Amino acid sequence: MSQIDDILGVGAIDRLRRPVGEARGLPGSAYTSAEFFELERKTLFPRTWMCIGFASDIPGPGDAMPLTAAGLPLVAVRGQDGAVRVFHNVCRHRAALIVTAPGKNLKQLACPYHAWAYGLDGALKATPWFDGTKDGTKHAIDKANYGLKAVRSAAWHHWIFVNLDGNAPAFAEHIRPLEDLLKGADLSAARISHREDWAWQGNWKLQPDNWETYHHIWVHKNIFTKMSDDLDLKTGEPKAEPLPLGTIMTLRRRAGTDFYPPANDLPYIPIPEGAERVRCTSVIFPNLTLTVQSDHLSSVVAIPIAPDRTVSQMGYFFVGEAATAPAYQKARDTVLDRWMGTTRRQGDRGGIRSQDMEVWEQQQIARRSPIADEVLFSPVWEKNVHHFQNMVVNVMAGANAPR
Ligand code: FES
Ligand SMILES: [Fe+2]
Repeated sequence: MSQIDDILGVGAIDRLRRPVGEARGLPGSAYTSAEFFELERKTLFPRTWMCIGFASDIPGPGDAMPLTAAGLPLVAVRGQDGAVRVFHNVCRHRAALIVTAPGKNLKQLACPYHAWAYGLDGALKATPWFDGTKDGTKHAIDKANYGLKAVRSAAWHHWIFVNLDGNAPAFAEHIRPLEDLLKGADLSAARISHREDWAWQGNWKLQPDNWETYHHIWVHKNIFTKMSDDLDLKTGEPKAEPLPLGTIMTLRRRAGTDFYPPANDLPYIPIPEGAERVRCTSVIFPNLTLTVQSDHLSSVVAIPIAPDRTVSQMGYFFVGEAATAPAYQKARDTVLDRWMGTTRRQGDRGGIRSQDMEVWEQQQIARRSPIADEVLFSPVWEKNVHHFQNMVVNVMAGANAPR
């Protein structure tokens, strides 16, 4: 019996792998148990491309942010060349944490313990007094062997990803389904306007599990007011088509309209001449979600903290000067009020984010019950949820390519 079977119970994976209408979802222990969380840390996050945060949090050369991914201390740094690099945040001397707080415009990364200094590219520059001399002239150590250990990383538009075990397919492969779906829309033309970190009491998987529009009219009743907002009542098909595409689980608006009406006067995300404008909201496996509307991007990185605790790092982006210029304030507010409520505070039940988090926290409580070992998927609405959960167990079971 494998370790996963041990935690989830024999047969749970087979039940999950059935076709969506007959499948049963991940049992409660996948959300509540410390053992499963630890197994994810070892066998899920390192094998795939995990999102670790927003590149716009380190906008300038020499900006650095310490973070934890899959339990490991890392640091993301923007070099003088403008490129983002990620290193293990561990000194090569005696393994102290090097960067302990976000830094701006740093010239080097200096260890607080004995002042070893590393360049923004990770190269070891100085080991003061290590051999009793100021410049290491007596027994100079071979600096080339003791640079910071780099982590395989990728920066894609506004997001930073790492593949900790170094063996995942190239990042370009990981993101290709979304690139194809977006048909050349220039996400880099959007700029960061608002960042917010909200912690909630629930398992990180509840965020990607939520990529269905079935809950809209109940959870977001001030925004989606009637079933015909989300369902074509004639065909019985959701207006946002659930589309599992390998590493991407998307909800794509069929009719070529936005999920909600665009705010007046905001510039649209540029698309290539003659290309179709695609509006979709996607999970980028495993822990990033991204909504692409005509006039803004809304994205959340789910940072797993504990089995029952997650930080949702939220970023809201508008095109060009619309991200910050006062002239667009009112239009931006229309958009941001919808996502975060007029107070922009966690718990503001006027906003989509708090409405969702409240349900996730309630789900987390319910998943402690044995009744939560049998959960169902709607074949009409919840194909993405089924796909996401299968991806989780497939990667954990050793599949080297996502299905
Ligand atoms: S541990 Fe970093 S300089 Fe000693
Ligand atoms: Fe929602």
